Amino acid sequence: MSEMLRKAREYESRSKGRIPQEERPVFHFSVPVGWMNDPNGFSDFLGEHHLFFQYYPYQTAWNSMHWGHASSRDFVKWNYLPAALAPDEAYDGAGVFSGSAMEEKGKQILIYTGVEETVTESGDKEIWQNQCIAVGDGRDYVKSAANPVISSRLLPEGSSKEDFRDPKIWKEDERYYVVAGNRSQDGSGQIVLFYSDDLETWKFGSVLDRSENRLGRMWECPDFFPLGDKRVLLISPQEMRADGMFHNGNNTAFLTGDYDRDTMRFIRQGVQCVDYGLDFYAPQTMQTQDGRRIMIAWMQSWDNPIYPQEHLWSGMMTVPRELTLKDGCVLQTPVRELEQYWRHEVSYQNVTVGKETALEQVRGRSIDLELTVRGMERGKFRIRLASDGALYSEIIYDAEERVLTFDRTHSGLTRDVLCSRSMKLEGGKEEVKLRILLDRYSVEIFADGGKNVMTSLIYTPQTAQDIIFSCGETVDMDVRKFDIEMEG
Ligand code: FRU
Repeated sequence: MSEMLRKAREYESRSKGRIPQEERPVFHFSVPVGWMNDPNGFSDFLGEHHLFFQYYPYQTAWNSMHWGHASSRDFVKWNYLPAALAPDEAYDGAGVFSGSAMEEKGKQILIYTGVEETVTESGDKEIWQNQCIAVGDGRDYVKSAANPVISSRLLPEGSSKEDFRDPKIWKEDERYYVVAGNRSQDGSGQIVLFYSDDLETWKFGSVLDRSENRLGRMWECPDFFPLGDKRVLLISPQEMRADGMFHNGNNTAFLTGDYDRDTMRFIRQGVQCVDYGLDFYAPQTMQTQDGRRIMIAWMQSWDNPIYPQEHLWSGMMTVPRELTLKDGCVLQTPVRELEQYWRHEVSYQNVTVGKETALEQVRGRSIDLELTVRGMERGKFRIRLASDGALYSEIIYDAEERVLTFDRTHSGLTRDVLCSRSMKLEGGKEEVKLRILLDRYSVEIFADGGKNVMTSLIYTPQTAQDIIFSCGETVDMDVRKFDIEMEG
């Protein structure tokens, strides 16, 4: 093991217990210590779910990237494992960037981007991104002597060698495939596909899809998987301009279409925004033993980080979400294992909501809340949550526009950051059904059966627990609430 990895592991051990459990989210994965961004290597190994992540243990800011590591039997309760990779080789010394993992012949194969920085004779810095492999037993990993196994030299003429990252690996009919993010000659994103028969020698296969300057610039963190009778290319585009369903800056999109494996061509048919919230990026998926496709994402924003400076940790993941396909659209539902942690069911039927309405026991900061609102034709329906009167966040549904807004303006922020995002809900429905997961610092809203989803962070003091409903009109509402508890 390198000195650098040993140091990271020692630092992690020493940091254990420095962060009080009450300061962490209840049922969302949070970084052991320091900084975390993208989920990496989300996959099964020897019957357990593994999650790696972009990691800098020493500070709560992005820096020299390592891979942190954790495992779980149910996607909800996670055990921290020692840091898996450090940037300790010449070919990855400027960062062990995002990647993926798979189980193969009893070994765990990690594939990641090694970032190398060199200085030219004229003194200019040059950055190279290449794909590298490490093999391990679920805890300790050895980087391949053949690294980097996918060199940027394999890219088509004119492609960027500086922006070539985030390999996602899978196996199909005895052949290994990798998709990675890249930039084409026009400077905007493309997803490149490679294949190999032995994990060491890789060949360029095709360009699966391109932005052509329409869906942002660089496309990061691709994933490519079958769902229903379609194939989904999941991407995280950078530097987008607000346009229809997308907001300025970093976005995430499901590109749905058909794939011809023989010619390695993807024919895009649909584009869908993955999550409309303020804090969602770099999602990655895996397939469970029972065939479910599960997605997890980094629950933070690059441009609007709002985590408290006094915390010794920064970084949470979304709740893992099951993906299904319906009428060509991807639907997201919180992983069913979460239901094992449901406690104290409270439910109300046909509550009349007009002026401010609070319901006994419908409160809390670690809850799973389902609402059905009927009879709304105009006006606005509001849910104030994480409220103590002065502080609150709001979900506002505008019935005429059929627009759902999340607003954290009054959540206790003292900085000039983005506070609100909106999404359009499906039309032509009698009722609006929402599922809302609250977990101390986060609010995940699932609407339209999981077709339209919104994830945002709030750092309101935990004493703010109330939930208040109100509506300009009088409406009829059903509510079901569970606390989510993780005893033991
Ligand atoms: C996405 C990303 C990836 C990269 C990693 C570096 O958030 O920019 O493209 O591999 O973060 O930490």
